[in-house]
Amino acid sequence: MPMALKPLLLLVFAAIMTLMSVAEAQSTVGIVHVNGTLYCTSNASPAPNGSATPVFPNATLQVACSADVVANAPSNTTSNTDGTYRVVLIPRPNATVGSIVSNCRLFVLTPLSTCNPTLPSAGLVSDLRFVTTVPNGFWRITYMVAAGFAVQAN
Ligand SMILES: *[C@@H]1O[C@H](CO)[C@@H](O)[C@H](O)[C@H]1NC(C)=O
Ligand SMILES: *[C@@H]1O[C@H](CO)[C@@H](O)[C@H](O)[C@H]1NC(C)=O
Ligand SMILES: *[C@@H]1O[C@H](CO)[C@@H](O)[C@H](O)[C@H]1NC(C)=O
Ligand SMILES: *[C@@H]1O[C@H](CO)[C@@H](O)[C@H](O)[C@H]1NC(C)=O
Ligand SMILES: *[C@@H]1O[C@H](CO)[C@@H](O)[C@H](O)[C@H]1NC(C)=O
Repeated sequence: MPMALKPLLLLVFAAIMTLMSVAEAQSTVGIVHVNGTLYCTSNASPAPNGSATPVFPNATLQVACSADVVANAPSNTTSNTDGTYRVVLIPRPNATVGSIVSNCRLFVLTPLSTCNPTLPSAGLVSDLRFVTTVPNGFWRITYMVAAGFAVQAN
């Protein structure tokens, strides 16, 4: 191989080693995706009778944590026109699935009455529920969902 390639290969190798140690320093949680679909009902779930339930688009959602387990908390997102949302969290290296679930909650900050005036003029709050952790290159992605929304008294 041409001599000029050698330093380049070393550089690539060093970069890979750095990435691997960054991944190692990350907790086993990797990055966290909290995702789901927001419906325009009093608990943000689809109506149980199976009829088409309208979604809640353009709502501001926020994940906030009571302890310093997530580097980018509080973290906001907005639901899409189809009601889907995704909040991406960067856990602290010492965070675990358990510490994230017990310290972080998902809020819907936009009042429910925004999507249907007959619903309360209040937001929603839910605990997080762990779904799965999957490998993603040098990283992992941990999926979490809302455990169940309730109107947030304020
Ligand atoms: C969250 O996103 C993942 C990957 O895009 C998807 O497989 C999963 O079904 C989503 N979960 C919910 C509750 O929407
Ligand atoms: C289904 O539930 C929704 C919301 O509770 C209600 O508005 C609708 O009338 C119900 N439809 C039927 C067929 O019961
Ligand atoms: C979404 O909400 C923002 C502010 O809450 C508002 O400015 C914007 O017009 C809304 N967009 C739609 C499509 O409703
Ligand atoms: C999240 O949204 C709320 C309500 O719209 C806003 O007050 C707050 O500043 C936002 N926070 C971040 C980090 O963007
Ligand atoms: C985890 O790290 C954060 C910031 O680095 C620190 O504030 C927190 O106390 C640590 N938690 C534990 C349980 O060590």
